[in-house]
Amino acid sequence: MAKSKTKTKKKGHKMADIADRHVLYQKSVQGPDSDIPFFEHHYEEYTGKKLRNFREDFCGTAAMASYFVTHHRNNRALGVDLHGPTLEWGIKHNVSRLTPKQQERLTLVHGNVLDRHPWRAQMTVAMNFSYMVFKDRPTLLKYFKQARKSLQPGGLFMLDIWGGSECFVPQEEPRDVENSDDDGIGDFTFIWDQDVFDPATHFYTTRIHYTFQDGSEMRDAFIYDWRLWTMPEVMELLREAGFEDVHFLWEGTNKRTNEGTGTYHRAEVGEADTAWIAYIVGVNPRKR
Ligand SMILES: C[S@@+](CC[C@H](N)C(=O)[O-])C[C@H]1O[C@@H](n2cnc3c(N)ncnc32)[C@H](O)[C@@H]1O
Repeated sequence: MAKSKTKTKKKGHKMADIADRHVLYQKSVQGPDSDIPFFEHHYEEYTGKKLRNFREDFCGTAAMASYFVTHHRNNRALGVDLHGPTLEWGIKHNVSRLTPKQQERLTLVHGNVLDRHPWRAQMTVAMNFSYMVFKDRPTLLKYFKQARKSLQPGGLFMLDIWGGSECFVPQEEPRDVENSDDDGIGDFTFIWDQDVFDPATHFYTTRIHYTFQDGSEMRDAFIYDWRLWTMPEVMELLREAGFEDVHFLWEGTNKRTNEGTGTYHRAEVGEADTAWIAYIVGVNPRKR
């Protein structure tokens, strides 16, 4: 007889008490199995080469870097993150699942992305808007310069960015997440909380909360103190940092439903949607 997932939770414990916030995060906002093929595809389309050497800045639990080394026996990855406990969680839960050979091809650095880490990546990514932690031009420029220096000549740097009129509106936006794992949690709801936005500085406090089928709630699982950078600002700073052919990938629109298709292509102009996510790419020049 199939067990009801909600009944597998420990007796007397609310789901919010037993759920692990990093597991919830990985299930609700990360998708290495779709992100890595997306990076590989864009890299190969742009350079004509296979992506074998990958760097994940702000890697957190290193979910993406860990997945990358499973994708091909010659794949190597570097992950950099400032927060020791998050990296340790990643080592315990993600890296430990890799084979010894895959582990050998993965390097995790407990450090600041503003510092130089010896690695020459074909592609470096900074996902889930992590670079928005840098709130002034000189610091973001310093990061972009450092990111360029960590790339091989001709290497690609990719960032994601979010915008649209809705991003300026303080609001809590729930999204249901299916969870088929037998972990006692069941399906849950991810809540993106655009808490405090200052239009004068674009400083933004955003939060992630989770709610569960038993009615319990994990408030402030993650809190981000960011500056909401705009696309022109980021693209200008990338050029200033020495990147060339700075371009962006915009999501296609299904003409019948007017919904996003989930596939991204290089575009020359964006669309004034109420909420969008795009990817910005800079290329490290071959000769300097
Ligand atoms: C929003 S999480 C992103 C996690 C993951 N990359 C993702 O795509 O979901 C931001 C991460 O950036 C890390 N971080 C913040 N400032 C950093 C810095 N200066 N250098 C390295 N990592 C930093 C935090 O420790 C945190 O793990």
